[in-house]
Amino acid sequence: MIHNNPTNEPSKEVKLTQNAALISLLLLIVLCLAWEWSWAPLKPGGTWLALKALPLVFAVPGLIKRRLYTYRWLSLVVWLYFIEGVVRAYSDVGDSARLASLETALSVLLFMACAGHVRARFKASLSPSNGEHSSAPNTSRELSTARAQQLIDQLKTILGTEQVLTPPLDLSAYEQDWRKRAKGRALCVVRPASTEEVSAVVKACASLGVSIVPQGGNTGLVVGSIPDESGEQVLLSLQRMNTVRAVHTDNLSIEVEAGCVLAQVQEAALAAGLFFPLSLGSEGSCTIGGNLSTNAGGTQVLRYGNARDLCLGLEVVLANGEIWRGLSGLRKDNTGYDLKNLFIGSEGTLGIITAASLKLFPKPKSTLTAWAALDSLQACVKLLGLAHEKLGIGLSGFEVMNQYSLGLVQKHFPTLQAPFQDYAWCALLELSDNESTEHAHEQLVGLLELAMDHGTVQNATVADNLSKAAQLWHIRESITLAQAQEGLNIKHDISLSASNIPTFVAQTDRELGELIDGVRLVNFGHLGDGNLHYNVQAPERLESAQFLRDFEQHVNDVVHRNVFALGGSISAEHGIGSLKVDTLPHYKDPQALSMMRRIKDSLDPAHTLNPGRVIRMETQQPH
Ligand code: FAD
Ligand code: MLT
Ligand code: ZN
Repeated sequence: MIHNNPTNEPSKEVKLTQNAALISLLLLIVLCLAWEWSWAPLKPGGTWLALKALPLVFAVPGLIKRRLYTYRWLSLVVWLYFIEGVVRAYSDVGDSARLASLETALSVLLFMACAGHVRARFKASLSPSNGEHSSAPNTSRELSTARAQQLIDQLKTILGTEQVLTPPLDLSAYEQDWRKRAKGRALCVVRPASTEEVSAVVKACASLGVSIVPQGGNTGLVVGSIPDESGEQVLLSLQRMNTVRAVHTDNLSIEVEAGCVLAQVQEAALAAGLFFPLSLGSEGSCTIGGNLSTNAGGTQVLRYGNARDLCLGLEVVLANGEIWRGLSGLRKDNTGYDLKNLFIGSEGTLGIITAASLKLFPKPKSTLTAWAALDSLQACVKLLGLAHEKLGIGLSGFEVMNQYSLGLVQKHFPTLQAPFQDYAWCALLELSDNESTEHAHEQLVGLLELAMDHGTVQNATVADNLSKAAQLWHIRESITLAQAQEGLNIKHDISLSASNIPTFVAQTDRELGELIDGVRLVNFGHLGDGNLHYNVQAPERLESAQFLRDFEQHVNDVVHRNVFALGGSISAEHGIGSLKVDTLPHYKDPQALSMMRRIKDSLDPAHTLNPGRVIRMETQQPH
């Protein structure tokens, strides 16, 4: 976005519901006080009546500052006033009864205004452009158009005309997110081929106050890698920076450019007789830059850690265009702050990663996969404990899937048949062994036999060749695609300690079942890391877009509240992007948020790197 344009105006609906809430709240306060002064002193309980106004008075600043939790809180509390109004309207007579009826009417009005406000804000939060901050004085559209043209000309000089894509070219592959949850509009798409070009692009944008959205493979699931709707952001694609710079077999490390696709890095490692363990369903399209920026997880975290744990050093272009060359291959370095870890997981809001130095590992001698059928999630947790005990460090993957998620895979990809159909849960286990295939087989079969003897596992099979193993993994990795084919859905990537997951699922299933008749729960994920995808699909009778409009906020509230109550995280893998930017403040420690803002302010003082993602800055707060 060009920051000379005013784009931080709340929508009409947000303003209208805010005003309605404020007016009905003020009237309710006046009513409580009037009631006290004119009538209540004559009755027992008068003081209590005056106190009734107090909580309402405290809510006034929250409504003025548009704090979402004040609106939510009020919409719950106001029912007390409603109930009291109804009771008194019936039990009292004369003016008192009339005032009580007025109290009832005002509390209904206040409830509707607050609930309408929460809904309007939620709708607005789905639009990436909402709440964007305009940090410079308001100037005319002509000025910004002239500046936009000036910038495009400058970018063409830096990159060459063909690497600066502008409308009317079809830019939808860059402007729409993978899940089709949102579509933005870019001023242009730039495709630099070197760190120096990225730096020059960033400098040109910074000098005009234009914001930049970095993009890798655009497989992110939280609407973080597409431009907002302003048509004023530069989309910087790293796809052309896809060179594997070096493989250091002696140091067990690899140096790659940020636009390298994950599968390409895995292949480069294998070609050198080594192993790069990061593994995601999107590995054929996602890039290393995107993986690091989201601190991606995947199916090998249990043994090798997530993207952060696999990174030794970074090269980053900062918000002012300076280049930080931090491509160390060192495994130990205590010379001050660990800067790379600031950029990892920052989703393009602190700097643009242009290259990375990554850890490689010796290839395991043998990798074996097994599929187990279980009748409860509790049994899956038990099996996980047993697998840790019996396989130790050899356990490299432990995924679970509920029956509904496997049914979806079968519906959309009929050739992908899961080994067992009739069990509530299935677990996919992987053992990476450094001795031999025979040893691995003995260990894995031993574990499964023991688990079946205990009654933990109902049925199991071990893949006896690589293609069968790949087929089992393919079933697991197809859940996301099957879900996408079934329609828009609500995704969650929560984490808890694994032992708390069954409690979380039982409680959340129950609450959502009561809230939405026929709701479909697609639960699967990385139980070995305590990370569950608690995904929610519309009931069959409901159109999915309508379902999202009516229920997304409620579903998120239930899931997040339950995960928070059990000490978990609302995002273990996918990050915050713009989908969760207004949710994060409700569940993150305020001190942590304050430190995050200070870091953002110091590394990107003009807030031009991926604004409105991860964290809103003070001036961008919609509440
Ligand atoms: P993008 O989607 O292009 O960008 C993601 C974020 O990173 C954006 O905020 C963007 O601005 C920023 N960014 C991208 N490149 C850079 C850069 N070079 N410098 C600075 N910022 C940058 N995720 C998991 O964690 N685990 C999974 O198991 C998993 N499975 C998936 C399966 C499927 C089928 C799909 C579609 C997605 C899955 N994901 C998973 C999500 C996604 O693939 C990851 O988040 C991935 O790391 C994103 O990489 P990308 O290159 O596509 O990044
Ligand atoms: C996965 O583990 O497959 C993903 O993170 C994708 C998803 O949540 O759908
Ligand atoms: Zn996942």
